[in-house]
Amino acid sequence: MNHSHPQLDPVLASDWIVAARAVDVAEKPLGVTLLGRRLVLFRTAEGVHAFSDLCVHRGAALSLGCIRDGRLVCPYHEWEYGADGACVKIPQLPAGQAIPLKAKAETFPCEERYGLVWVNLDGSRPSLPPYPEFDAGSGFRNVVWGPQEVAANPPRIVENFLDVGHLAFIHQGYLGVPDHAEIGDYRMLEDEDGPYSEEIAVFQPDPDGSGQAKHVYYTYKILRPLVVRFTKRDRENGNLMSIMLAVRPVAEGKSVAYGVLSFNYDTGTTDEEIVEFQDMIFAQDKPIVENQKPENLPLDLQAELSLRCDRVSIAYRQYLKKLGVALGTA
Ligand code: FES
Ligand code: CO
Repeated sequence: MNHSHPQLDPVLASDWIVAARAVDVAEKPLGVTLLGRRLVLFRTAEGVHAFSDLCVHRGAALSLGCIRDGRLVCPYHEWEYGADGACVKIPQLPAGQAIPLKAKAETFPCEERYGLVWVNLDGSRPSLPPYPEFDAGSGFRNVVWGPQEVAANPPRIVENFLDVGHLAFIHQGYLGVPDHAEIGDYRMLEDEDGPYSEEIAVFQPDPDGSGQAKHVYYTYKILRPLVVRFTKRDRENGNLMSIMLAVRPVAEGKSVAYGVLSFNYDTGTTDEEIVEFQDMIFAQDKPIVENQKPENLPLDLQAELSLRCDRVSIAYRQYLKKLGVALGTA
């Protein structure tokens, strides 16, 4: 029997990986695949939990079961598992017989933060990536975006999000215009949270919905191998918009993207309209990302030709190389 998990990258297993939107982990257990592993997410009064989606009795998928009195109930013979994974009820056992100690589900650290549910596969519980826009009192309105399935490995998706040079073409009319494709020079810096760019001037046709074209200033930051962010600043009015992108590796060549969009100003649009706009932008990126070659991001910086404006991408590749991320890299 094969117990190996070929997609289980140890660096990513030691991190928090986005598993779902928090609103999707509700009364019903939710099955998700993360780094090739099938998990079940569920919610009790204490919060969210992640187990292997596997009942130790006869291997039924616990995600087909239900939650009863704060316990995860297997659909097949209704064994009941407590939040710590221990089986607390076996209906078939005659009275007085003890529940076998081995009747336990495999559990993983699971946290709800930023409107998303995060899972840490190796139990090391690192800190969650910082995203202060979501904190109470930040003055930002936050909108959760996703899930969006992509037929690509995560690093290509993340690098696309960090790529400033494509805005004028792939998103022309929205995030840039071809006649103003030049990217102002900038440097990469680093603090304790990770590498980040200085402000990068990007010419946009209508950055604030007023119809006035102008330069806005992007700052990109790499927080984790699969969690990055940018802030777009309008120097004239102080408007800030941030997006945190988090990508879930499902299996080889398959990922799911999530995001949090944050605004310190009134966008004049509903949450649904904000999500719709982001879906439209993402749909423009998707065919590019799904067809890039090689599928895996080359970490050898000589393998692809880079410009000075690609410094964020280069920093991302160096970051992945330093951490030793294997999934989706070459
Ligand atoms: Fe889960 Fe039997 S397979 S209770
Ligand atoms: Co794009």
